[in-house]
Amino acid sequence: MSQKKLLRALAGETLDTPPIWMMRQAGRYLPEYRATREKAGDFLSLCYNSDLAAEVTLQPIRRYGFDAAILFADILLVPQALGADLWFVTGEGPRLSTVTAQSDFDALKPAADIHETLNPIYETVRILSRELPSETALIGFAGAPWTVATYMIAGRGTPDQAPAHALMAQNRTLFEALLERITEATIEYLSAQVDAGAECVKLFDSWAGSLGGDDFDRYATAPAARIIAELKRRHPGLPVIAFPREAGDKYIGFAKATGADCVALDNSVSPEWAAANVQCDGCVQGNLSPTHMVTGGQALIDETRHIVEAFSKGPHIFNLGHGITPDADPENVQLMIDTVRSK
Ligand code: CP3
Repeated sequence: MSQKKLLRALAGETLDTPPIWMMRQAGRYLPEYRATREKAGDFLSLCYNSDLAAEVTLQPIRRYGFDAAILFADILLVPQALGADLWFVTGEGPRLSTVTAQSDFDALKPAADIHETLNPIYETVRILSRELPSETALIGFAGAPWTVATYMIAGRGTPDQAPAHALMAQNRTLFEALLERITEATIEYLSAQVDAGAECVKLFDSWAGSLGGDDFDRYATAPAARIIAELKRRHPGLPVIAFPREAGDKYIGFAKATGADCVALDNSVSPEWAAANVQCDGCVQGNLSPTHMVTGGQALIDETRHIVEAFSKGPHIFNLGHGITPDADPENVQLMIDTVRSK
């Protein structure tokens, strides 16, 4: 069996102390990240500069010794590779050309053509698999089709994903064709990351929580199941982490329904509930609130211990419930890690 702690947890092993990494661990809360981004010019130039993207991926590994590195890239590179315009407005977030009519959809590239744009990302993965310490696992990732579609339809982030829900209601055929194209592209993208050296992959469905009832099954569970089945067919034994953020009760059975080896939990669910209802099916990841990285102190220590304890009877990867925010204090990250590892 692999010696890397993250891969052991993903294989279902209950470890004395859980492996630990952090969503957005390479990010603006770190001064060394801000310096490298400055050097690259802007965020997208950083994503496509393989040497600098590898450098920022390694920064939190050097500083903290996390058990896993996550490839530095973004879920919105897939729409860009499909032909959408993409740019980031400082202080506001992403902007994209929209897909709301058949003609917008017809202008998209086929999934097989994404590699032309995404080759620098695979080069980042190759650099990382050479340069990472031998105990550090390398995680590849992509956005799940629903979440990526919400950005492609609205042309930006939205609090309630209303434009995507509207397209679903008004033109379900177009909506489903778009989801299908993203699903195919995601399989191609993740498969190429694995070929380049990613040891496991994570599927981010950040807006899964806004899908109710049958829509959740059709547009969160089913595409994840298809992507995971095809990846495992191409790469037998590949571990997959699925993150249907804010799925609530829909976390129950999600691993079985999709074939995911691990379900990542946001911090809206209690660890006791998740241990009883989700970890009973296998590995879970999570789920400290990212606000503790801003506020620190005894509350951070208490809540970290609480989560480690609640998940201690089964396979667990310690993480935040969502990405660390730019206003976080790097010393609080060290305090979290020390607390997890001093268990
Ligand atoms: O986690 C990591 O360290 C790996 C890299 C990574 C980034 N984005 C880098 C990034 C990963 C895994 C993502 C995923 C991502 N990107 C998601 C899913 C996870 C989630 O947060 O829910 C989503 C929805 C996106 C789209 C995206 N990218 C948005 C909405 C924004 C703007 C908001 C923000 O935080 O600024 C981004 C920008 C982004 N992606 C940054 C980073 C480090 C900040 C860009 C900067 O340096 O200015």
